[in-house]
Amino acid sequence: MQQITLTQPDDWHLHFRDNDMLLETVPATARTFKRAIVMPNLVPPVVNAELASAYRERILAARPQGSDFEPLMTLFLTNNTTVEDIRAAKKAGVVAAKLYPAGATTNSDAAVKGIEALFPVFAEMAEQGLLLLIHGEVTESHVDIFDREKLFIEKFLVKIVDQFPQLKVVFEHITTSDAVDFVNTSSQNVAATITPQHLLLNRNDLLVGGVRPHNFCLPVLKRSTHQQALRKAVATGSSKFFLGTDSAPHEKQAKESACGCAGCYSAWSALELYAQVFEELDALDKLEGFASHHGADFYGLPRNTKKITLVKDAWQVPESITLPNGELIVPFFAGQTVQWALK
Ligand code: DOR
Ligand code: ZN
Repeated sequence: MQQITLTQPDDWHLHFRDNDMLLETVPATARTFKRAIVMPNLVPPVVNAELASAYRERILAARPQGSDFEPLMTLFLTNNTTVEDIRAAKKAGVVAAKLYPAGATTNSDAAVKGIEALFPVFAEMAEQGLLLLIHGEVTESHVDIFDREKLFIEKFLVKIVDQFPQLKVVFEHITTSDAVDFVNTSSQNVAATITPQHLLLNRNDLLVGGVRPHNFCLPVLKRSTHQQALRKAVATGSSKFFLGTDSAPHEKQAKESACGCAGCYSAWSALELYAQVFEELDALDKLEGFASHHGADFYGLPRNTKKITLVKDAWQVPESITLPNGELIVPFFAGQTVQWALK
């Protein structure tokens, strides 16, 4: 196939950051996506309706002229989040709240220490129709980093979905066959996002032949059997799996460092790379469901009406991108060839 036309897709998980960085990240995403679920891990985090509304305004102001891109805002859950915060968030148009176990990833120090303490908040979210988005990794230092997702399922996720069957839960950026199995065997109120990097790569791409900091993200890339399980999951066309890039920019110097940051900035090529994966899987007919239908349906939002077209026309991702402040970002797949292009 040389060309594929899809309903315009949405990105159900990304990081825009703030201030000047928005002038890079918002246009890059609005290039392909109509809507995006915007993660709240700013410094300080987006913990209430007021902060979410102000952040939304800053994102809207960074849209390219004429763009109809729509940010969908989320709240960052902490042990101080109250039932009233959830009600106010709903009123302000916030669609979801994100659970980061404390210390799990970038800017998550303020996050949740005792998940059970948040159960009244989860109950109110179910009541108000706010989705619970979960970074599913335990954070205890003695737990091997490659086992953290599996252990989170066993220790917390099973309990959360059991206690709150009405709560819609998105298991974000899943990386293991354990997560695929959990989602497949859970109720219709449990779904998952999958990133381009976890479909394209495994831990060899992080560590063989030298450490590759631009492939480092959290949850960390896993062994190839897990990558294959994710690929198989999306190839089935199951509506429980949908597109969430986890596009997460960090300046070049912060990634190419003795203690490099986690995150792949994929907005420049994400949709095209997903198309590449689905083509490799001989499942291009399942791309539209994954990219444009399943997420909207799960969130209870209308599907987009516009169409976009991808053509089989190879191009190279730039080696770096210059930010408005003059700093560089190395995008995901930098210098590599992408097979599909946006028409
Ligand atoms: O790799 C990641 N980067 N994983 C996350 O969960 C957060 C993100 C970030 O904000 O940089
Ligand atoms: Zn993320």
